[in-house]
Amino acid sequence: MRILMVCLGNICRSPIAEGLMKDKILKNKLDWTVDSAGTESYHIGEAPHQFSQKICLSNNVDISMQRARKFVKEDLQRFDKIYAMAGDVYQEIKNITGKGADLSNVDYFLNELEGINQSVPDPWYGPEAGYKQVYDLIDRACDAIIKKYK
Ligand code: 4NP
Repeated sequence: MRILMVCLGNICRSPIAEGLMKDKILKNKLDWTVDSAGTESYHIGEAPHQFSQKICLSNNVDISMQRARKFVKEDLQRFDKIYAMAGDVYQEIKNITGKGADLSNVDYFLNELEGINQSVPDPWYGPEAGYKQVYDLIDRACDAIIKKYK
């Protein structure tokens, strides 16, 4: 299974999701691949946010080598599962892929965990504590994905 995690900047939420999922794939000996991308261009080429790196590293997951890239419409064919971290991200995926695109492999990330079409809060504008909350939520959703599809 090829999974793509998508948020806005590809520096806060989706790098955590990529890093955690890769770690769990390794631990579960699964033949899956994971990548991440952002729907916006602001941070292309940048490493993950320092607080995203810090919370991952404190859980023994090193995401420092990741670099932000933009989501492109060709990603629709390249991945089996594309997870939007939030409603605005889902909307932007729709805009980028254009009218008539088959979005059957695109879903809200948290639909694997709880509720319907819930968003992972964007920690970008808030304090460091927000990154811990987001990390815990992403961790639980990644566990749910592993459990469901392995
Ligand atoms: P992310 O967070 O989508 O989780 O990477 C954001 C990062 C940067 C911005 C917005 C959200 N920004 O506006 O620059």
